[in-house]
This record gives sequence, structure tokens and C-alpha cells, in this order.
Amino acid sequence: GSGKFFVGGNWKCHLVSCFLISPCILKQYTQNGTKESISKLVSDLNIATLESDVDVVVSPPFVYIDQVKNSLTDRIDVAAQNCWIGKGGAFTGEISVEQLKDIGCKWVVLGHSERRHVIGEDDQFIGKKAAYALSQGVGVIACIGELLEEREAGKTFDVCFQQLKAYAGNDYQLSILWCADAVSSWDNIVIAYEPVWAIGTGKVASPEQAQEVHAAVRDWLSKNVSADVASKTRIIYGGSVNGANSAELAKKEDIDGFLVGGASLKGPEFATIINSVT
Ligand code: G3H
Repeated sequence: GSGKFFVGGNWKCHLVSCFLISPCILKQYTQNGTKESISKLVSDLNIATLESDVDVVVSPPFVYIDQVKNSLTDRIDVAAQNCWIGKGGAFTGEISVEQLKDIGCKWVVLGHSERRHVIGEDDQFIGKKAAYALSQGVGVIACIGELLEEREAGKTFDVCFQQLKAYAGNDYQLSILWCADAVSSWDNIVIAYEPVWAIGTGKVASPEQAQEVHAAVRDWLSKNVSADVASKTRIIYGGSVNGANSAELAKKEDIDGFLVGGASLKGPEFATIINSVT
């Protein structure tokens, strides 16, 4: 792999999950995404033993970022799940990169499949957000990934390359990434390959399927940015990663970490995933 292993926990906008002891009896009713559940998750993370050679980031819903920043160990950084495309101002309902920096967010997740396919964000919009966040010194977890029908039509690489181009290819970003500062800016990007068919479905990509795309992404970076950026950029995998499958995935040469959804809501399991670094 490239660089330090990187594991992100995307808490998304989860509200309620139920733990069943039988199909009809509720043993425990836990609310994820409430102040109370977040403080439990934070305290589980604070006491977890984590491998030192791994960058760890968690991404709470906006309204809980401050709570998390004030209670979570400094060992773990905080990422936002979205941001506005430019400087803050009269944009009702948006959160600016400046505000994220003000409350201590070092990272932002952009281009997640739920923002692309549920909310309708397109490549150009996502590329602008990434360029602006990077220009302000906030790291970008840049998500890409194909739909099932795109995979079945043999378009996986085309789709991923098109999405990559949007992060690297608009005019503004060209000027900040492909000039003298190119390498230092790419230091702040982690690429997350998340096949949409694997997200939240329990159908994890096989280590071979993930490795194939990660290698292709690295090759794209080498041909379109530079060999140096290709060798240094972390390419992480997301989509139904859990404590039972992370170790096998982590063995693959081009898998440099994970972006974890559901399993990141359980502190001990998230720690297992972090510690699957090889
Ligand atoms: O950002 C995380 C991904 O969407 C993966 O979610 O682990 O629940 O499949 P998941």
C-alpha cells in the first residue's frame, strides 16, 4: 500500500437501530445519532486500543461535531460529511469550510454515493467543493464508485475515472493541484472507492474486485497526475466493511484503508477494523 493506513468512520445520518434477541422480542433499543448514543460511541473509542500506525477519522452528523470534538481523544480526527462549494455567506442551510475549520474539522467527505444518487450532486459540483476545501487546508476524502448496472455493463473503470477527473480536472483545481504545490495538495486527498452496490447492503466487494479497481485508480493517477502522487495517495475501500472481512481486504497491495459506515457505529468493531492494518 501507499503511505499510512487510513480508516474513516462515516456515521451518516443514522437515527435508530434495534437489536433483536428473537424475531419478535426487543432486547435493547439503541438510538444511534442522538447525543446519548454519540457519547457512548465516543467513550468506547476513547478506551479502545488502536494501532499507532493508522490515521483514524470519524464523521458525525454536523450538529454533533462540536460534542464529538469536545469529548473524543485527539488520537482521532473529525471529518464533516459535506460542505458548501465556496466561502460562506447567504446560503441558507449550508455549512462552510471556514465554519468546519473553526470547530476543528480537519477533513470533509465529498462525493459520497448517497450525495450523488440520493441528493443528486453531480461531478462538477463535487469537484468545486473539493477544490475549495483543499484551498482552505481541509483534507478531502474523495469518494468514487460505480452502480451495479454500470459494473454489469463493464463500465466500472470509465465511471471511476470520470469521477476522479472531476476532483482533479476543473480549472480552479488544476491551478492548485497541478502547479508547484501539486504534491502537497494531493497529500490532503484520500480517495475512497465505494462500489454503490456494496454500500449498506452486506455485499462486500471481494478483495480481488476491490484490488482491481484500486490498482486502476493508481494507474490513472500515475498517467494523469504524476507517478509520485500515484505512489503516495491513499486509496481506501468502502462498502460493507466489518470486523470479519477487513483483515482479508487489508492484505491487498493497493488497499490503503477503509471508509466504514454501519460498522463504525460500534466502537469495538471499528477498533478491530482499524487494527487490521498489515
Ligand atoms: O461511507 C461509508 C460507506 O458508504 C459504507 O457504508 O459500511 O454501511 O456499507 P457501509
